[in-house]
Amino acid sequence: MKKSDLKKLLADMSLEEKVMQLVQIPGYEFEQDAAVTGLSDKKSSDKVKRLAGSTLGVWGADKAIALQKRYMENHPHHIPLLLMLDVIHGHKTVFPCPLGQGATFDPEVAKKGAEIQAKEASAEGVHVTFSPMADLVRDARWGRVVESTGEDKYLNGKMVSAMVEGYQGTSLKDKGHVASCIKHFAAYGGAEAGRDYNDVELSEHTLREQYLPAYKEGIKAGARLVMTSFNTLNGIPSSGNKWLMKDILRKEMKFKGVLISDWAAIAEMVNWGFAKDMKEASRLAMEAGVDIDMCTGCYGGNLQNLVKEGKVSEKLLDEAVMRVLELKNDLGLFEDPYRGASVEKSLEVCLCDEHRKVARDAVRKSLVLLENMGSVLPLSSKKIAFIGPYADEKKIHSSWAISGEPDKNVTIKEAAKELLGAGDAELKFAKGSNMLLDKTDIGSGVFEADDDSNKELLEEALDIAKWAGEIVLCLGEDIGQSGESTSRVDIRIPAPQKALFDAVCNVTDRSKKKLITLIFNGRPLDLEDIPQKSDALLICWRPGTEGGHGILDVLTGAYSTSGKLPVSFPWSVGQEPLHYDHYNTGRPKPKEGQTIFSSRYLDCPNEARFPFGFGLGYSEFEVSAVKLSKKKLSKDEDFIEASVTVKNIGKVEATETLQLYIRDVAGSRVRPVKELKGFEKVTLSPGKSAKVSFRIDETMLRFFTINNKFESEEGKFVAFIGTDSKTNNSAEFELV
Ligand code: BGC
Repeated sequence: MKKSDLKKLLADMSLEEKVMQLVQIPGYEFEQDAAVTGLSDKKSSDKVKRLAGSTLGVWGADKAIALQKRYMENHPHHIPLLLMLDVIHGHKTVFPCPLGQGATFDPEVAKKGAEIQAKEASAEGVHVTFSPMADLVRDARWGRVVESTGEDKYLNGKMVSAMVEGYQGTSLKDKGHVASCIKHFAAYGGAEAGRDYNDVELSEHTLREQYLPAYKEGIKAGARLVMTSFNTLNGIPSSGNKWLMKDILRKEMKFKGVLISDWAAIAEMVNWGFAKDMKEASRLAMEAGVDIDMCTGCYGGNLQNLVKEGKVSEKLLDEAVMRVLELKNDLGLFEDPYRGASVEKSLEVCLCDEHRKVARDAVRKSLVLLENMGSVLPLSSKKIAFIGPYADEKKIHSSWAISGEPDKNVTIKEAAKELLGAGDAELKFAKGSNMLLDKTDIGSGVFEADDDSNKELLEEALDIAKWAGEIVLCLGEDIGQSGESTSRVDIRIPAPQKALFDAVCNVTDRSKKKLITLIFNGRPLDLEDIPQKSDALLICWRPGTEGGHGILDVLTGAYSTSGKLPVSFPWSVGQEPLHYDHYNTGRPKPKEGQTIFSSRYLDCPNEARFPFGFGLGYSEFEVSAVKLSKKKLSKDEDFIEASVTVKNIGKVEATETLQLYIRDVAGSRVRPVKELKGFEKVTLSPGKSAKVSFRIDETMLRFFTINNKFESEEGKFVAFIGTDSKTNNSAEFELV
């Protein structure tokens, strides 16, 4: 439809019709088996169901087509319904969770994954995905860490923009793509004490330097929607925050698309004590420029009156409605309301071999090897025992793979039988323990174990542990322990699994058998004594459909591990929030000698146990000293080339990720000890070397200075290039 026709359509719509374009109702009001991803006690009237402009949680080509047909027939202007869904890390083919994707340090992986998700979801009638989540995460207690690509703004920005490009393609008219929604604007990851939905207190410079950049990258990549966050930011709930939404999002970031509230976030401004009732909440949200009200009766019940009473101008309303109509138009829904939905297409693409292949490759690249003592991995024994609740567990996706099909996931046992079974190794499997102690581990979960069941499981496991030459222990958080509303103050693996680990360690004659521990997790964990007691330790995240295959591919040595931690792993939950790009303080802890009166804990190191950017491969790399093409950089078109030579000094081909960090030695506001500014992957066969170089220019040195603007300041800088954030391999230069 032409813009002039859209304008005509808008002019022809009644006030009620216009308001209803801004109302989103949950899919389960249309379809019984739609996803429920939030609280709602509201039952919409038939009229609301006839007029609401969008819904969420419905998928399936048949269902989507029938719903659209019904809806359009009943709509006075036959305007199509927008179908949205949380396609977070997979629709049918489920990829590693976003945190696992962050660990690849490879935006191409994220882009390809998003393309496939869009292809599958659009074939099943979905128009918009609520992804990517661009929230910066620094507190492992927060359950939604699993949905982020990590603690670093630069890495997140790269991954987020790649995902937006993958979902949206070059034109939304292309039916194999969906519109992407950046969320949760803004700073949701800064929730106090890691407790979900909590308040966020942030200085403006930290907000701008650390939290906003990844959203901005997503918007620059063209994301068509943005979602507000549940939290307050310095006392103001996001959905009513005019400064954040109008000044920052619309004016500074030049976002022109649809702004949607998070589920019930407009009504929740009443609970926050920011609005006295739903009517006031609606006015505040409209003034902040929130276009769509997700799943509350706020706009539906109050906007018409607010306009009639002159409290919300019709112009403001029309602007919001126009943005929604434009999105529908850009998706081509006026020409083809069923868009990509097709049963045949869905059967052809969903979980097809090609998609599984890409997902399998993503799993391999997402795995992070934290220990590999004596190069115990790859596996070499002829007697291998796979033990633990994850040895044959189907639920290896995250709780946000809502349209995925867990029974299609490949477990460790299935993959081991397939990939090792044909050889001369003998394989045995045992569950070893229940996943959780009891239902308190996952709040309102359904599981209740008894001691006897744990005892039986343990005995069986110890029998095969005694027999084995190599034991692969498959442990981790339950699927219900990460995701929305899953904050935890105890970030260790569940007690029965730790008891299993201890028991296996005790029966194991360590000189004769090797212990390889796999951890399935949605957040950084306090790993207790697991790292030092395991010969090898592999972080598997929530790997999705091809989890078993991808993991076995690296256990067998068909591929070397190459993942890097996108989040710092702490020694203790007491260190949280923890991130590598902290400030130095006036009293940094000296490396040696006197520590009294310094910035430290009495009972724990300051540093992460496993730092951001860290991860081992099956080979070893030598990195030369950093070379700078010159020592002085001027502010014009100038740049410095910073380079190293990397050599594979190990025995197998492997991939290393070189990371560029920069430290600004002194600034008008204190600067982090180092910040990631670039990364580059190199794959080398044994004995081979390559030069890896980065361009450093003035724009990379800008920060939010004392003048309250992004600018660089002259002075000394340090460029580090290494294989993790602890690197000291560096050279100094000066900005003049
Ligand atoms: C979550 C969002 C999600 C939305 C719709 C909310 O509870 O915070 O991330 O997109 O539900 O399912």
